[in-house]
Amino acid sequence: MLKERQLHDKIFTPFISEKEIYLSITNLTQELQKDYEGKEILFIAILNGSFMFASDLMKFYDKDAVISFIKVSSYSGIHTTGRVDELIGLNTSVQGKHIVILEDIVDTGITIDKVITLLKSNYPESVEVCTLLFKPESFKGKNKPKYIGFKIPNKFVVGYGLDYNELGRNLKELYQLKEE
Ligand code: IMP
Repeated sequence: MLKERQLHDKIFTPFISEKEIYLSITNLTQELQKDYEGKEILFIAILNGSFMFASDLMKFYDKDAVISFIKVSSYSGIHTTGRVDELIGLNTSVQGKHIVILEDIVDTGITIDKVITLLKSNYPESVEVCTLLFKPESFKGKNKPKYIGFKIPNKFVVGYGLDYNELGRNLKELYQLKEE
């Protein structure tokens, strides 16, 4: 039986189990393998939050694919700052490639909009987004993710790579902020 977790000053309750996450990743990889039949994907994982999702998704993905990791930052505590810095760490050419961006969570959509704009200036063949979590109520972006693990309510979540002020990334499951 999973228990509540305290991270810094906040309490989080169990939300999505490890098993449910793996099932969802299996479905996502099957969909990707079907859609990209005969093509090589360049996965671009957005750090830090997507490290666990990217690692597990790559283990389940059974076709040729390459991966690169980039970093952007738009969150401080439990609120987005709405600002995204330049891409850090993209050390491969994207020209002519089929890119699938891997995100842990798409919230307002600001991060992926900015990343997609920056990537498109380097002429990839195609760009799609695969996210484990999507918050439809807070989304106001231009690029809706094509591949979505779970649609979730507009509440702050941690675990499975996602943090609250850097704590909680190591949890195997997802937890949701407890209402006070
Ligand atoms: P967006 O730009 O608003 O879509 O936010 C994307 C980024 O904000 C994600 O990559 C996360 O790092 C962070 N984020 C958004 N919602 C949450 C949450 O509920 N928990 C932890 N991080 C979040």
